[in-house]
Amino acid sequence: MAEPSTRVRAAVRSEVGAETGNGVRAEIRAEAGAGIRAEAGAGIRAEAGAGIRAEAGAGIRAEAGAGIRAEAGAEVRAAGRTGMDAWLLAAADRRAAADLVRATDVRRSRPHLVDLASNDYLGLGRDPRLREAAAAALAEHGAGARASRVVTGTSPAHVELERELARLTGQPAALAFSSGYTANIGLLTALGDPDTLLVSDAHVHASLVDGARLSRSPVAICPHADLPALARLLRERRESRAVVVVESIYSVLGDAADLAGIAALCAESDALLVVDEAHGVGVAGAGRGAVHAAGLAGAPHVAVTATLSKALGAQGGAVLGSTLLREHLVNTARTFVFDTGLAPAAAAAAAEACRIVTAEPERVAALHEAAVRIAEAAGVDHAPGAVQSILVGSPVAAAQVAARLLAEGIAVGCFRPPSVPDGISRLRLTARAGMDLDRAVEAAARAAEYSAEFRTEYSAEHGTEHGTEPGACYRPKHRTEPGAEHGTEHGALRRPEHGAEHSPEHSADAGHPQGGGGAALAATGTTSGRRTT
Ligand SMILES: Cc1ncc(COP(=O)(O)O)c(C=O)c1O
Repeated sequence: MAEPSTRVRAAVRSEVGAETGNGVRAEIRAEAGAGIRAEAGAGIRAEAGAGIRAEAGAGIRAEAGAGIRAEAGAEVRAAGRTGMDAWLLAAADRRAAADLVRATDVRRSRPHLVDLASNDYLGLGRDPRLREAAAAALAEHGAGARASRVVTGTSPAHVELERELARLTGQPAALAFSSGYTANIGLLTALGDPDTLLVSDAHVHASLVDGARLSRSPVAICPHADLPALARLLRERRESRAVVVVESIYSVLGDAADLAGIAALCAESDALLVVDEAHGVGVAGAGRGAVHAAGLAGAPHVAVTATLSKALGAQGGAVLGSTLLREHLVNTARTFVFDTGLAPAAAAAAAEACRIVTAEPERVAALHEAAVRIAEAAGVDHAPGAVQSILVGSPVAAAQVAARLLAEGIAVGCFRPPSVPDGISRLRLTARAGMDLDRAVEAAARAAEYSAEFRTEYSAEHGTEHGTEPGACYRPKHRTEPGAEHGTEHGALRRPEHGAEHSPEHSADAGHPQGGGGAALAATGTTSGRRTT
């Protein structure tokens, strides 16, 4: 092993763009303790036959958006690892080979960046009024909720938040969760059982996918925004109850659901409609959400979920609907009952945000103006929400464009499998009220220019986050009898009997879950690839 003083410290850098043709062809070898480091925008690429080899203890580290890519025949491996370590390294290798490495990078939140990536749609995240509300709650109630909401964790800040959320969205009742993710899982698992069919749009968020998986319900995947297919699935169901799961504004492609049409089908079929308004509250319907705008707020067959972490600038999630539903969730939603309550400071900040959304409609108008300008500058169809997306194609191309933009002080979202429902990677440009429009427009134009330069023909396997083909229905094979919380006797071993269509490969490690099919989608031209609904 090399002495620390003689460690390999040379930086290997390839010019942005050179990665496509002029990768580093020599063997790069890091002895234990040495580092090969790719700065944002640089690529370290091993062509077939070249090796990037990490001895035990050496680290290969990819900074924001940089790709470490192993072509066929290249080796990325660590010596002397066994068991779980070896499995983790193999998973890391697979991610690297598929250009699907993600990283937490503090540099993406640097204040001087042109921020087209965060979800602070109304610019409330750093608003002094939210900070003051949070600080007051912090002083009064402490740093955390200290217990589950059903033990000692409900503070006056939670009660106030739920009142404000219900008022903003026009719903009879609200229940706050520690995140939008836990709200979705809590709701679907609390509604699911073997006699309740969940019909989920193929493009819903991972949290709804996970909720459906955990619900113990049969799950039918409806092709995206396909109302005739939805009607058929509801009509042909065997189960006595049904829950339809959609988003009001879809997060990746940015399209809006036809809520009136879907709600009418649900009413005809005696189904409950669950609408995730993560991208709708604070954005659609003068900030009151798309469900309110569609005249569906308070409808007994419609429930809403929301996040407090996007337009409301805070942290947490919520389910909105009838008082009967709220009472059911307080008693049965596992991510509510068995989770420590939302931090009171976050609750107080979100409550303040609800009041501001109502009092300052000009914020919502400013957000939409920014969205139109960004879409224009990027040369894509304008999407109805805050997110405007530019189609790039392959994951590596999207990561390269994002890294190049970051190196120039522009932060954009980089959407790669499994976050993209059709497997085609995109840049996500997010509009925000109060943003410097000139800088945003210039940055969006730059993003479009680099995307055009890097755009690749890319064939993605059809498939969905759900891991099964749209139109298919999967019915869980294991049924849990009442008994231990794990659903099986102590000492017993339970192996899920998932069929292929359950696609166990649902982690980011595995990349985009494959549901079969395999039709090629070509990412071409300058279109955003957005589906219109
Ligand atoms: C559609 C949708 N639902 C739910 C969530 C999860 O919300 P949270 O970040 O509050 O957990 C997100 C967040 O990205 C989302 O986009």
